[in-house]
Amino acid sequence: MRALVRETELTPGDLVLPLFIRPGKGEKRPIRSMPGHFQYSVDEAAKVARMAAQAGLPAVILFGIPERKDAKATDAYATDGIVQRATRAIKDAVPQLIVIADLCFCEYTDHGHCGIVRNGVIENDPTLALAAKTAISQARAGADIVAPSGMMDGQVASIRRALDRGGYLNTAILAYAAKYSSAFYGPFRDAAESPPRFGDRSTHQMDPANSREALREVQLDLQEGADIVMVKPALPYLDVVSAVKQRFGVPTAAYSVSGEFAMLKAAALNGWMDERKASIEAHLSIKRAGADFMLTYYALELARWLGEPA
Ligand code: PBG
Repeated sequence: MRALVRETELTPGDLVLPLFIRPGKGEKRPIRSMPGHFQYSVDEAAKVARMAAQAGLPAVILFGIPERKDAKATDAYATDGIVQRATRAIKDAVPQLIVIADLCFCEYTDHGHCGIVRNGVIENDPTLALAAKTAISQARAGADIVAPSGMMDGQVASIRRALDRGGYLNTAILAYAAKYSSAFYGPFRDAAESPPRFGDRSTHQMDPANSREALREVQLDLQEGADIVMVKPALPYLDVVSAVKQRFGVPTAAYSVSGEFAMLKAAALNGWMDERKASIEAHLSIKRAGADFMLTYYALELARWLGEPA
């Protein structure tokens, strides 16, 4: 009877798998702080993408670890950049799988900041020009969705304008609209080799104490042309997910980040929690709060668990 009156359902179709792409061939390097996750070379990433599609996942999101980092984040918008090559390989191997290209510069700059830095400060507007260039290059490689995650002001508008002018009218924008300055990104910075060399990201990422500000951020991104807005992290910000969905009623995503995964994984590996039950419950709560879908490192495991009898 509980199934008859259940309000929320979690399915593999709600889950997007993040993948880290590194140079080389046949490479699959374990990420220490995220057991079960790897940095994949392009060829290996295509194999995992095929598995993801077979498991019923609708999409993957790609993060690049380039061969070379520099002050201008060159690899982020290079035609043969790491994410561009992975996008082409995945769309070739599994055309029906949606490819989301994360669009940020911290993985590509030698200083590890999400934009152009001058005198120790991130310069917002010069960074917008790079974002536009990167979006075009990702769309040209075949990305279905670009996902600006740098929290620069005006980034969605400049990307939308560039995509439209470039003829990429159908490339969608998933905006990391309310992205908090969070300690829960710790394992990711390991995985993507992207920690800032100096300072932190609190000049542009949000204060965890604020939720009204999140609504203003979401409103701006929608006005600028975002197709989907995202809240990140997920579990510590379910109130924000809920408020965004109720206020705007637009396609809303949540990013269950590396630290959320690492927390559950560590407890599970210690035998302190039932991993399957805890993971299903945590992700169900994100859906219940109002997310239409979520990015999660548990995507493949969840797809399997959800297919098994309860
Ligand atoms: C920045 C970016 C970060 C994450 C996704 N994109 C890290 C940061 O802002 O430092 C974190 C994702 C995670 O923790 O899983 N491009």
